[in-house]
Amino acid sequence: MPVFSLTVNHVKHSVNVAADTPLLWVLRDTLNLTGTKYGCGLGICGACTIHLEGKALRACQIPISEAAGKSFVTIEGLSANGDHPCQRAWVAEDVSQCGFCQPGMIMATAGLLAEKPNPSKAEIELVLSEHVCRCGTYCRVRKAVQTAIQLTGGKK
Ligand code: FES
Ligand code: FES
Repeated sequence: MPVFSLTVNHVKHSVNVAADTPLLWVLRDTLNLTGTKYGCGLGICGACTIHLEGKALRACQIPISEAAGKSFVTIEGLSANGDHPCQRAWVAEDVSQCGFCQPGMIMATAGLLAEKPNPSKAEIELVLSEHVCRCGTYCRVRKAVQTAIQLTGGKK
């Protein structure tokens, strides 16, 4: 099998997997970064959301052959101490129920706020509409997004 190199959370890795292996499985099974979740494998649920250069994307939809040479951030690398404004907001609003979808929700929100520190309600809803929570935490997620905006002071 070929060897692919990539950077995850500022650490370089070389992985020996089939070229069509989704990045999600490289993260979870090869690099043991299990914060990124498998929900649908189809790019629909958002559970596998990570960042490439600050932008949110779905790890289940990227084969390792496309991920090679790039630098990604997962929920484990979003902040050094779990104190990114989104993480603090999620704790403050007690968002999680089972927690399965929440890393993806947090990464999506962090990506949105990195791009647009003061997003409109429509922009927030567009991002959240692309994420599924089987526990129905949507109201608390919306509150947490507003809290995260307050915590960042609407600044990049
Ligand atoms: S597992 Fe990737 S979007 Fe659902
Ligand atoms: S908190 Fe359980 S799936 Fe969202």
